[in-house]
Amino acid sequence: MALINEHFLKLRGNYLFSDIAKRVNAFKVTHPEARLIRLGIGDVTRPLPPACIDAMHRAVDEMASAGTFHGYGPEQGYDFLINAIIKHDFASRGINLSPSEVFVSDGAKSDTGNIGELLRWDNSMAITDPVYPVYVDSNIMCGRSGVLGEDGKWSNVAYLPCTAENRFVPELPEHRVDLIYLCYPNNPTGTTLTHAQLKKWVDYALANDTLIVFDAAYEAFITEPDVPHSIYEIRGAKKVAIEIRSFSKTAGFTGVRCGYTVVPKEVTAATLEGERIALNPLWNRRQCTKFNGTSYITQRGAEAVYSAEGQRQVKDTIAYYQDNARSMREGLQKMGFQVFGGVNAPYLWVKAPEGMTSWKFFDRLLYEAHLVVTPGVGFGPSGEGYVRLTAFGTREDCTEAMERIRKWA
Ligand code: MLT
Repeated sequence: MALINEHFLKLRGNYLFSDIAKRVNAFKVTHPEARLIRLGIGDVTRPLPPACIDAMHRAVDEMASAGTFHGYGPEQGYDFLINAIIKHDFASRGINLSPSEVFVSDGAKSDTGNIGELLRWDNSMAITDPVYPVYVDSNIMCGRSGVLGEDGKWSNVAYLPCTAENRFVPELPEHRVDLIYLCYPNNPTGTTLTHAQLKKWVDYALANDTLIVFDAAYEAFITEPDVPHSIYEIRGAKKVAIEIRSFSKTAGFTGVRCGYTVVPKEVTAATLEGERIALNPLWNRRQCTKFNGTSYITQRGAEAVYSAEGQRQVKDTIAYYQDNARSMREGLQKMGFQVFGGVNAPYLWVKAPEGMTSWKFFDRLLYEAHLVVTPGVGFGPSGEGYVRLTAFGTREDCTEAMERIRKWA
């Protein structure tokens, strides 16, 4: 008899976005004629940059003849992409990385979910609250989160509230923790940390021997000068931080799948006996065992993001979403809503009308305005009373969504 991993039984019934999809499908059954506008899951709507399309077409042609065909590639990613990543995303900001510190993958979600495999199940951990659900759910799966309390919190997880009261800047944990997940620009609140604010976290990690998993999937949306693009802009971060990036939101790769993780050689964790072990060779070993590399075609597409043309096209697409975010933010504020984020990120964090819960606001927007948003409480207890809107819709949908909310409000 095979025994199951019982930690899976502790998970909430569905992953947040599957839960929302179920509710939306139920609505569609009873309202087949309604035209829904979806500003829920952060999925992009603009097509891939032409430079990526061209590069992928060329790569497909290479696959068509024996002389240029590519079978299994390096599990860590092809040098052509790793070198482009290092040059454009890091060296340009004065950060030196060696190629063996960058691991190309099929996206940031897999890496954020899998990275915890390198660590013992009984490490203590902290998350900002609200938070991208993958950080918590993947830790529940390996038993690191403890048990769920009536307050909706897991017993072994320190929740660091990010609320309007603290301007969405989390306090350092009250008790020392082994592992912290940070996501900046933040999903779901769309807020950021300045250099000085992020430095506090790196200093904490250095002083307390804490590992930071830094998710920078929304880095391309940063507009303000004092917001770090990489945690390695902070001195000492290479000793304590793993950084995860994605081409999904930067270049429209949500359906193509490509991201990467930086595991600096200096980052270590300890054995029970206190011996320090570098995480880089462990992650390499993990990837070689469980992952056969991102497809050649995809990596050629990702490489093209860094070409001069690709950079121009990506900037145009990001500007399109940023403009959506700006007009939605201004529109909602004019209607009297309290709105956060949307300046350095594609997400708006919107306070529900007084006394309304996240799910109530979600249901009313769904049934009365035919709009899909994401209930803030789905991201954690401190998300109660908020919903998240994405700016990844088409211009027309974002404009009409504001009109529908205006009429509804
Ligand atoms: C979100 O809506 O939070 C994101 O689309 C999730 C993801 O990137 O996996």
